[in-house]
Amino acid sequence: MRETPNADLPVPRSVAVIMDGNGRWARSRGLERIRGHERGIDAVRRTVEECARLGVEALTLYAFSEENWSRPAREIKLLMRLLERFLVDERPTLMDNNVRLLHSGRRDRLSTRVLERLDESIAMTAANTGTRLALAISYGGRQELADAARRIAEAVLAGELAPEDIDVATVARHLYHPELPDPDLLIRTAGELRVSNFLLWQISYAEIHVCDVCWPDFQIEHLHEAFRTFGRRVRKFGTVVP
Ligand code: FPP
Repeated sequence: MRETPNADLPVPRSVAVIMDGNGRWARSRGLERIRGHERGIDAVRRTVEECARLGVEALTLYAFSEENWSRPAREIKLLMRLLERFLVDERPTLMDNNVRLLHSGRRDRLSTRVLERLDESIAMTAANTGTRLALAISYGGRQELADAARRIAEAVLAGELAPEDIDVATVARHLYHPELPDPDLLIRTAGELRVSNFLLWQISYAEIHVCDVCWPDFQIEHLHEAFRTFGRRVRKFGTVVP
């Protein structure tokens, strides 16, 4: 935690968010589910801007899981279109807020169009020195660990690594973004008490904050409330606090 523009607000170094409830938000208003995703973009922008302003080092947003590929084709198509638009339209927001964009997840099922927009935005923001924003797209925690295991096995086969030398640090080094600090705080909106295959390795000691509002209704005050809750937690990391 550090000095912040809101002097009394504790600010975690690394924050991860499961942005849930877009569908429920839309349905409760008699709208199509995609309208909830569209409104979710505004909440993404608010959250990114506020995290950047407060000096959060890393923000990881769960935008599309590996399991989301089994949603109806129409919803996937619209979500991908939304994602493409987001990756272009939000470039000024990322640049104005000194935010560096990263991608967490597999690339193989993403379309060339999405990958091109993603790579352009990543390149455009590469020199930004503020908050690192990792968009988890086509991401699964188990898949990330399986990918890490495969790369470790390849290193063993290539003679670069001895099996007896594989430890926790080896696995951590083979994750998608080993340079990012593990989340101190995991926020989930829309009230569900699940981690849904998100950052399974990295959230080992994250504090979890579940907020009842659906993602499109997530406001800066909800983010601050999550930070305050985090500030009140006693973090023991498995040891004993004196
Ligand atoms: C969960 O809501 C949300 C998603 C699967 C997608 C998240 C996407 C956004 C917030 C908008 C796009 C974001 C970016 C970065 C472009 P749900 O559909 O599972 O909601 P439900 O549980 O109420 O059905």
